[in-house]
Amino acid sequence: MRNQFEEALHFRHACKLFDTAKKITEEDLHFILDAGRLAPSSFGMEGWEFRVVQSGTLKEQLKPLCWDQPQITTCSDLVVLLSRKNMRSTNPYVVEQFRPRGEHFERYLQVYHDFVDPRSDEEINCWSGKQVYIASGFIMMAAASIEIDSCPIEGFDKEKVEALLGIDTENFEIQHLIALGYRVNEQPPRHRRPFEDVVRFL
Ligand SMILES: Cc1cc2nc3c(=O)[nH]c(=O)nc-3n(C[C@H](O)[C@H](O)[C@H](O)COP(=O)(O)O)c2cc1C
Repeated sequence: MRNQFEEALHFRHACKLFDTAKKITEEDLHFILDAGRLAPSSFGMEGWEFRVVQSGTLKEQLKPLCWDQPQITTCSDLVVLLSRKNMRSTNPYVVEQFRPRGEHFERYLQVYHDFVDPRSDEEINCWSGKQVYIASGFIMMAAASIEIDSCPIEGFDKEKVEALLGIDTENFEIQHLIALGYRVNEQPPRHRRPFEDVVRFL
């Protein structure tokens, strides 16, 4: 299992061009997206939703709004990762997420209230958005584990893409996109800072 994970780590890179002739099967796509669904989130809030763009027409319309990046139109599937907004303890979604806590429901809601509610709207939305990045890592690694390529994408015009996709911006916002598919080119050499510079044992 460790070796397989390591292989997936080295397989994954930000793929810039996908093979338009190759499509991800429904079963593989489900496996990949389910990894995002199963990702951890603070308080178990799961404050995310995923939209999957498969329509070629929609991809063509999105491309100019995404810095004209070729990943948008060459990928098999384009995942749009949304985070929930307005996540104060009074939001019915938040309350419902705590229901499975049973007898601990009130206590969880109180701790959540004390942790989240004193923050500004902007801070709370930012906190909610951070959770989505965890799901994103799971999605990309799940894809790599079955030799499917990915590219995370933050280079896009948020307002315009939200408008084009008809996102309910009262309650959701786009955090980023992930293009999924099969590489055309060889993976370039990876640049990373040395382990010793990044990790310090205390
Ligand atoms: C949140 C996020 C947003 C990114 N946005 C883009 C993007 O818009 N376009 C792009 O080509 N790469 C994008 N990247 C890819 C990074 O440039 C890439 O991950 C980094 O250079 C390391 O390379 P590697 O992923 O191939 O190891 C993004 C990466 C992350 C994590």
